[in-house]
Amino acid sequence: MSAVMRQDTRAILREEVIGDCRLILGDAMQVMPELGAVDHLISDPPYEQSLHDAKNSAARRHRTDGRAELSGLDFAGIDEIRDEFTELSSAICNGWFVVFCTIEGVAKWADVINPSEMKYKRGCIWIKPDSTPQLNGQGPAQGAECFVTAWSGSGYARWNARGKRGVYTHLTNPPDRHGGHPTEKPWRLMKEMILDFTNPGQLILDPFMGSGTTLVAAALTGRRAIGVELNPKYFDMACLRVAKAVGSARAMGAQLTAEVQEVLI
Ligand SMILES: C[S@@+](CC[C@H](N)C(=O)[O-])C[C@H]1O[C@@H](n2cnc3c(N)ncnc32)[C@H](O)[C@@H]1O
Repeated sequence: MSAVMRQDTRAILREEVIGDCRLILGDAMQVMPELGAVDHLISDPPYEQSLHDAKNSAARRHRTDGRAELSGLDFAGIDEIRDEFTELSSAICNGWFVVFCTIEGVAKWADVINPSEMKYKRGCIWIKPDSTPQLNGQGPAQGAECFVTAWSGSGYARWNARGKRGVYTHLTNPPDRHGGHPTEKPWRLMKEMILDFTNPGQLILDPFMGSGTTLVAAALTGRRAIGVELNPKYFDMACLRVAKAVGSARAMGAQLTAEVQEVLI
């Protein structure tokens, strides 16, 4: 791990380069204009503010099923920066723009992507077989999350999964979940998406990297990645997780294609 201290710019507060991953501490809205072009942008940005408010309400934090209490979200929702973020992304992304959101958020993303330079493609679904039950019993629990996909490249959109449906099923809480970030994405989900949407050696940007799951999956699949995170606590967590993933890819070999994945499974 090589540390590069930069105090001469406002945007990049700290930077670590670990294997083929570059981790930046800073505000993505300030950092993105300083980055060059990337092949793809795959990210799990903050959700809609309404969901943040719901998750943070005291009433929701008391579980009655004996499992650990849900933790609140210590960052703001996407609403205020969605337009600016989409515009910045369109300027530097040369391939897929893929962002997670709530089911209700799909239309909001489509509304900002459609007037942009990017071509809105589809809303996809992540099914969570082990999602949190509706603890008050007043209606169905949330069993899925979405991600929207848009093509920011030239010509026709290209991916590796032929006619596959945009439905991904992965446990939210696998036994090897890191657990340090309240909205950690399963690394196997991120890996499947990276294998489908990107090619070995390509550069992926995650401007809201949290504890670094996108970069972990990129390291494990032989992709290069840049991650940006505002919170120093999550940035440090991401550095440790990415260092571990880079070490493991070096020891075991990176999994470059979905075909290899099938053989391994
Ligand atoms: C939904 S979480 C991502 C979690 C991540 N997928 C993981 O597996 O750990 C979004 C992250 O974006 C960060 N964030 C929010 N606003 C930001 C900004 N303007 N610039 C950079 N990071 C930001 C938050 O601190 C939070 O960690």
